Amino acid sequence: MTSPQAAEMLVHPPTPIRKVRKAVLPAAGLGTRFLPATKAVPKEMLNVVDKPQIQYVVEECVASGIEHIIIVTGRGKSSIEDHFDRAPALERFLEEKGKKEEAALVRRISDMVQVSYTRQKEPLGLGHAVLVAKDLVGDEPFAVLLGDVLIPGAHPATKQLIDVYQATGVGAIAVEEVPKDKTHLYGIVDGEPAPQPPFGQRLLRVRDLVEKPKPENAPSNLAITGRYVLPPAIFDCLERTQPGAGNEIQLTDGMRILALEQGLWAYIYEGLSYDAGDKLGFLKATVELALQNQDLGESFRAYLKALKL
Ligand code: G1P
Repeated sequence: MTSPQAAEMLVHPPTPIRKVRKAVLPAAGLGTRFLPATKAVPKEMLNVVDKPQIQYVVEECVASGIEHIIIVTGRGKSSIEDHFDRAPALERFLEEKGKKEEAALVRRISDMVQVSYTRQKEPLGLGHAVLVAKDLVGDEPFAVLLGDVLIPGAHPATKQLIDVYQATGVGAIAVEEVPKDKTHLYGIVDGEPAPQPPFGQRLLRVRDLVEKPKPENAPSNLAITGRYVLPPAIFDCLERTQPGAGNEIQLTDGMRILALEQGLWAYIYEGLSYDAGDKLGFLKATVELALQNQDLGESFRAYLKALKL
């Protein structure tokens, strides 16, 4: 049975439902978990198989129909801007050498989508980083994608959330099950099943959210995966959000207010995420994505099989 609140969220979506055109990518973190690699290189630019981590996330945005990406950066992150900008000297050099494919590859990165940048001047938390993008987002719904979670695949998690938003006018966040002893690493959702066609059992109404609870305090083992589609009302909620876990302004705490005031869906998305936010997760992402890579997959698999472990 769907509760009256969940039914209300479907019957009375805030009108009109606007297209989700923009995405915010927080990229201001110092990457301390990756030192010394990140001393002079932003963690978003660390290479996974054949491209920097942040390019996977930008490609997920493009595949989800996003037209304008806002990257929230900080000091020392200018290589991110260079990566998504035109590189005329490099393109010319490649063309003169007859390397047409490489030149096209380089150009495609800058032609993919419009990108804007803004800076978070102090590391005050993920919620604060999203709030910094307020003026660039304006009065429209938007996606948020965390750069250290990679979700490759033909059916992007962000697109799945956009579909939920577009059908209901209510924000949606991607969730997945995690082992009970890992809840302290994530935002955890207290959700009530609210099955609706075409989303079925994957849709839950968010009753509450807790950022990084100890297992004994976790309301479930459904973790926030790092993909969100939110209405612009989240900015007002974040402005009212007090520092929480780690003494930071948490996006999870802002969404608690949003869930209470406007409703919020948790969506058990279809797909597989790689947490490239720490060294082991990063290695796993590298190995698994290399195995899936069209050019390298087969020979890499043969190499791994031949390893005497
Ligand atoms: C952030 C969010 C958390 C979410 C996680 C997903 O935490 O605050 O709610 O579950 O990303 O990776 P972080 O990993 O940045 O500490």
